[in-house]
Amino acid sequence: MNILLLGSGGREHAIAWKLRKSPLCDHLYIAPGNPGTAAVGENLSFGVNDFDAITACCRERSIGMVVVGPEDPLVNGIYDHLRSQKELEQMIIVGPSAAAAQLEGSKAFAKAFMGRHGIPTAAYREFTKDNYEEGVDYLKQHALPIVLKADGLAAGKGVVIAESHAWALETFADMIQEARFGAASAKVVVEEFLSGVELSVFALTNGREFVILPEAKDYKRIGEGDTGPNTGGMGAVSPVPFAQGEFMQKVMERIVRPTIAGLHSENLAYFGFVFFGLINVNGDPYVIEYNCRMGDPETEVVMPRLQSDLVELFLRMQQGGLAETPVQFDPRSAATVVLVSGGYPGDFEKGKLIQGLDKATAGDTLAFHAGIREENGNWLSNGGRVAAITSYGSNIQEAVSLSNNAIEKIHFENMNFRKDIGYEFMSR
Ligand code: AMP
Ligand code: GLY
Repeated sequence: MNILLLGSGGREHAIAWKLRKSPLCDHLYIAPGNPGTAAVGENLSFGVNDFDAITACCRERSIGMVVVGPEDPLVNGIYDHLRSQKELEQMIIVGPSAAAAQLEGSKAFAKAFMGRHGIPTAAYREFTKDNYEEGVDYLKQHALPIVLKADGLAAGKGVVIAESHAWALETFADMIQEARFGAASAKVVVEEFLSGVELSVFALTNGREFVILPEAKDYKRIGEGDTGPNTGGMGAVSPVPFAQGEFMQKVMERIVRPTIAGLHSENLAYFGFVFFGLINVNGDPYVIEYNCRMGDPETEVVMPRLQSDLVELFLRMQQGGLAETPVQFDPRSAATVVLVSGGYPGDFEKGKLIQGLDKATAGDTLAFHAGIREENGNWLSNGGRVAAITSYGSNIQEAVSLSNNAIEKIHFENMNFRKDIGYEFMSR
């Protein structure tokens, strides 16, 4: 089968690497891809939101399966667009319909969905300019800190955790009146702050059946010890030591099963990954957010630990029998450390020559490309997150230290990374 994968980040390199291993994968195309994906498939030059080019490619290259990496095209309706093409009826699309992708595309939609299905999440209220004054009063009496979330997609920047009422009121005004995130913050969700350790749980579903993939924990803050501003993710580890036994039973019974049952009962067409962003509050799981795709950099540890054939899982997703398909994990730990451009998540320069990355994939280490482009045979930085260096180890500590050793061989100007990925799981 010919497969088209959409996206160009570290997540997509890891998915492409995994798809390539399947005997069911004939030709693998990635659009637009990066130099890493070019090594396992053929990059095509159109973007993830160019629906006409995607449709034409599916026709011309006899694509049997489209795998959508990022959320943007999903929220924009790529599933519905492709599903409406008569000649592409048989094609498998990995990614939910636009209606179902609202679980990520609208925080208010996700909150209401959880409310309807009794899924544990932080208490909340939603506000627009129509009940703005009510929102101001609500914020003034709210316990600190206060979590404010732009309703729509804001590239991971739409959440503010305000430590004072003044800060909360300023953020609120900024989001609604000054349209800080454009239309995405015309509506704001104000929610209770939950305190605990976060983890990411992933399901692959067809809206009736599901399988669970290896879980992961990502490190969102730029600074060591989880300090400084949020980023797209500076590293990840899998497995997560507390994600077992009674806690995972609660995750399944209180969150995963009711979510899938809710998709089904609400007739939301969902063929793809559900990313449950969870927080462990004294042994009880709560949903912080849903995403309608895999996580980045979580995918860079999840795919290496997944031993089952990913293409076969996608076929079962489409044809049925998914729940009976065994999902095998590598028992080893995996850790990934993300190399970023100096200045990220603020302003940074691109176009820096990357050296040594070609030698990083060796032994138990895999180098996944993210924001990289090729020019005259050189690799140049082309984004905030540049590469993700994943290693296997008998425990998290060993995996992280193998990645850190590999990073010593890699250089680009102003390269930055966190040396403390997995810090809370290190045995001493
Ligand atoms: P989100 O985009 O919803 O995942 O939020 C980004 C980050 O903000 C999360 O990964 C959490 O670290 C934090 N966060 C979001 N909601 C809450 C909450 N209700 N309580 C505590 N932290 C939160
Ligand atoms: N690593 C978090 C995300 O992909 O949203």
